[in-house]
Amino acid sequence: MRKFYVIGNLKMNMLSREEAAQYLSVLRREVQGKRYEHVTGAVCPPFLYLSQFDHLPEGIKKGAQNLFPEKSGAYTGEISPVMLKNDGVEYVIIGHSERRQHAGETNEMIREKIVAALKHHLIPIVCIGEMAAERRAEETDRILALQIQTIFAGLSKSQAEKIIVAYEPCWAIGTDVLPTTGELLQVRVMLRKMFTEMFDAQTAERIAVLYGGSVKSSFLAEVSWEAQMDGVLVGHESLFPYELVKMMGLCEEEALRQNEQSSSRIG
Ligand code: PGA
Repeated sequence: MRKFYVIGNLKMNMLSREEAAQYLSVLRREVQGKRYEHVTGAVCPPFLYLSQFDHLPEGIKKGAQNLFPEKSGAYTGEISPVMLKNDGVEYVIIGHSERRQHAGETNEMIREKIVAALKHHLIPIVCIGEMAAERRAEETDRILALQIQTIFAGLSKSQAEKIIVAYEPCWAIGTDVLPTTGELLQVRVMLRKMFTEMFDAQTAERIAVLYGGSVKSSFLAEVSWEAQMDGVLVGHESLFPYELVKMMGLCEEEALRQNEQSSSRIG
């Protein structure tokens, strides 16, 4: 059955509890009366506001933007996967390019964080993607292969299939510049092939791949289902609950359409 993810990365936004509360009340109003059977929505607020996000509307899960790969101890300023789990967090973004850039995260560190997330039953949303210069040098495939090989190294099939991958080319984040559907399809096909080689075809099918970078509802189709992506990771637009909910609605409609099509083919 076709299923999509719409994940909102709120980044370092909302400057007070009041702003967070305001966001939540608008989100609740927007979702009211809607049902999602084929879409999983999630919002990932700054750590400070996580407890305010306890009573999210049905269909929208609580996510975090990072974790530290230890359970507890002398790690000043860090947040453990167990703390997140105990706070009701279900999804966690790992290795966002802004963390690679500003916090020096490497593929090896990202791998450790994924293992820690899985150990404590959090679903990791791991970000991969090339920089603008790497794209110009036609190195996209090489960079993505290196990221995937390092991040997934040594994982079992059952660990791998729980991971959600978000392909977020750095040059498309916060820029309004987008890859074409054709370019995204190429990446999708390459990732499927890599996962088949590393694990097997069934596992490769189960690893969800999202697109992220300047996503808006007005061209959702082009960057998600038309490119065989399993949904989107949304930054700036997720600050507008109306947009996030609109994307969830469009994904629900598309999933229903695809599921009907495949059941009529079978029937
Ligand atoms: P953007 O960010 O949608 O604002 O480009 C996406 C992301 O960084 O996840």
